[in-house]
Amino acid sequence: MTDPRKRANSGSRLRASYERALAALLALGAWLRRHARPLAVSAVLFFLLAVMGDLSAWLAAAGFVVMAMMVAGRDDDEEDTAPFKEFNRVRRGSPPPERDAESWRLLLDAVPDAAAALDHNFNIMHFNARLEELFPRVRSGQPLSQLSRNPELNDAVEKAVTSNGDVVVDLYERVPVERRISVTVSRLGGREVRRGLPLLLLSFRDLTEQDKLAQMRADFIANASHELRTPLASLRGFVETLQGPARDDADARARFLSIMSSQANRMTRLIDDMLSLSRVETRVHLPPKGIVDLNEVASYVAQALEPLATGSKMTVTVTKADGPIRIRADRDEIVQVLQNLVHNAIKYGREGGHIEIAASRVLDGSPPVPRALIAVADDGPGIAPEHLPRLTERFYRANAQASREKGGTGLGLAIVKHIVLRHRGDLRISSVVGKGSTFSILFDELGGNPSR
Ligand SMILES: Nc1ncnc2c1ncn2[C@@H]1O[C@H](COP(=O)(O)OP(=O)(O)O)[C@@H](O)[C@H]1O
Ligand SMILES: [Mg+2]
Repeated sequence: MTDPRKRANSGSRLRASYERALAALLALGAWLRRHARPLAVSAVLFFLLAVMGDLSAWLAAAGFVVMAMMVAGRDDDEEDTAPFKEFNRVRRGSPPPERDAESWRLLLDAVPDAAAALDHNFNIMHFNARLEELFPRVRSGQPLSQLSRNPELNDAVEKAVTSNGDVVVDLYERVPVERRISVTVSRLGGREVRRGLPLLLLSFRDLTEQDKLAQMRADFIANASHELRTPLASLRGFVETLQGPARDDADARARFLSIMSSQANRMTRLIDDMLSLSRVETRVHLPPKGIVDLNEVASYVAQALEPLATGSKMTVTVTKADGPIRIRADRDEIVQVLQNLVHNAIKYGREGGHIEIAASRVLDGSPPVPRALIAVADDGPGIAPEHLPRLTERFYRANAQASREKGGTGLGLAIVKHIVLRHRGDLRISSVVGKGSTFSILFDELGGNPSR
């Protein structure tokens, strides 16, 4: 019987010598791979080992075959057999170019911004669908200069080749529409240029919409300050007059105080409308929860504004649809919409004229679908067509003087637009100069069942 300790000893010796042989083989392989002709050198080596060393011819031949398999992958990938290519790829820590190409293209397709990859000649190698939305005429293989003639983009691309970080440039495009596009140019990989792989990545961001919003916000602040400054200046003027020259003039004091009160009211209305607009704007994405009968709100608003209409010698009539006409809505907001429209009809309509509030069902769109309609029509002087598309803009007035004289803020229709938007309705304005204007809103009607 063999001593188990001896057996363990010889086993570990065998493993150690096997590991040494493997390490020597790997080192030899690595050394051979650096040679221009690794196969020839390894053949000579194993021949010498067989002739001069005490290696048997069979072992030398087997050693040569193993070595040949190890070093074969060093040459161009086309000459490699698949398993060795993989072996070498892992050894060198780089993915195979054709699979590389596949994966970077897939990555580019998934980038959320519009993006394009350029080769070292600044030709477009690949681009994603978002870029095609931005530049519908983009084609693979075309030079970047054909995508945009903007010289700043070319400069940025040249700079990015030698720069350590990203280069960002703003493009102001005029065709087909005016827009600002921010482009970030990044160099891919390190210093070396790899065949078949892109050199630069360009990502594009259309900032036109963002600029427009920023501009709108700035305009709103400017307009609001301007609207407030006028009554405020007037108030201060009267205060100074009352403190100075008109101190003891009882008549002037009564007159001035009445003007001051109307200016203060104007400021209050303006602030109320601004708050109201801001409230509806913040809720525009929240679907309304209540149920409103358009017949009912039409009667309610007509009644509420009756005294105001009578003051302008105007009449208000209500035409109702057959049976209740229900929509998913916030009642207060629908009342506010109708009040703004009827109030406008009173302010800008004809003295002694007529206003009609009508609720009905109509067929709308193509293919036509039944919808609920509420309309406010007047027989006043009407609105010239050039104003119609801009009426719902904040502070836009067809006639600023007339609006201010009548206590208007220029925000009423902007509030209407946002409420209608929240209710997924459609606001339509039609007007014939000399005949009158009609403001119509279409909603989806709730089908018969109020709990839907
Ligand atoms: N029924 C109408 N008839 C004629 N012009 C109107 C009518 N309704 C609105 N407008 C015009 O639209 C402008 C914007 O209306 P709105 O936003 O409600 O502001 P405001 O009523 O405070 O002036 C008004 O200044 C007026 O020029
Ligand atoms: Mg108004």
